[in-house]
Amino acid sequence: MTRHERASDQSWDPDRYARNARFVAELGAPLIDLLEPRPHEEILDLGCGDGALTAELAGRCKAVVGVDASPEQVAAARARSLDARVVDGHDLRFEAAFDAVFTNAALHWMARPDAVIEGIWRALRPGGRVVGEMGGEGNVRRIREALETAAAPCGVDAAALFRWYFPSVEEYRDRLEARGFAVASIELIERPTRLPGDIAAWLETFAERVLLALDAADRPAVVDRVREILRPQIYDPAAGWVADYVRLRFRAFKPSCGEGG
Ligand code: BEZ
Repeated sequence: MTRHERASDQSWDPDRYARNARFVAELGAPLIDLLEPRPHEEILDLGCGDGALTAELAGRCKAVVGVDASPEQVAAARARSLDARVVDGHDLRFEAAFDAVFTNAALHWMARPDAVIEGIWRALRPGGRVVGEMGGEGNVRRIREALETAAAPCGVDAAALFRWYFPSVEEYRDRLEARGFAVASIELIERPTRLPGDIAAWLETFAERVLLALDAADRPAVVDRVREILRPQIYDPAAGWVADYVRLRFRAFKPSCGEGG
């Protein structure tokens, strides 16, 4: 088995995610304001994870369904008494079932954006909206480059293992419009993000595929090398590690009947 074949898919341990990535939901909370959920609405939370934001939505609309590809995360969401289901975002089967689709920090894990957009379109009622945030063009560029540099001497091509989709404004707008959405707003937002712990914890949580492709004996040295490369770039003695996040945030509408689309 080659190193790259050994790289399994990213795993989603809810405890590890809560420890190292709670900030993802915390920073996504303002997106709910952009969604403006109303009490009579039914909402789909695409990529709901452990349901932290789904629970917020549940208090502000008639009904919310959370979907996520990770059975572990869905179990964690159900433990919050949410309607959460194991569904791959590329394979949404809802038909005109929702007034709005909400999605935070999930679309960048889905490598076939047109299939996802198609599913969102079908899930929405005419006049419905999608409000989303994901990693955008340039997201975690410094971390990616450091990992590529550190892993290369071990024969691992990190760039070939990344499965993240970080589109530009132009690309994602074109995709939404090609399906018929009217894009009300779409922007890239630079959001340097303080990490709750060491950069090693971020790598374990978000870049597991690359770490697993390394020989176990090489992993500590590669992580040390990443830390060494990144320290002058994204470490602040007062703030700690500050990841170079760039978000793509958008709001788009499925036209009402008679408006075209
Ligand atoms: C993010 O949420 O920005 C992210 C997710 C996975 C890998 C890198 C970044």
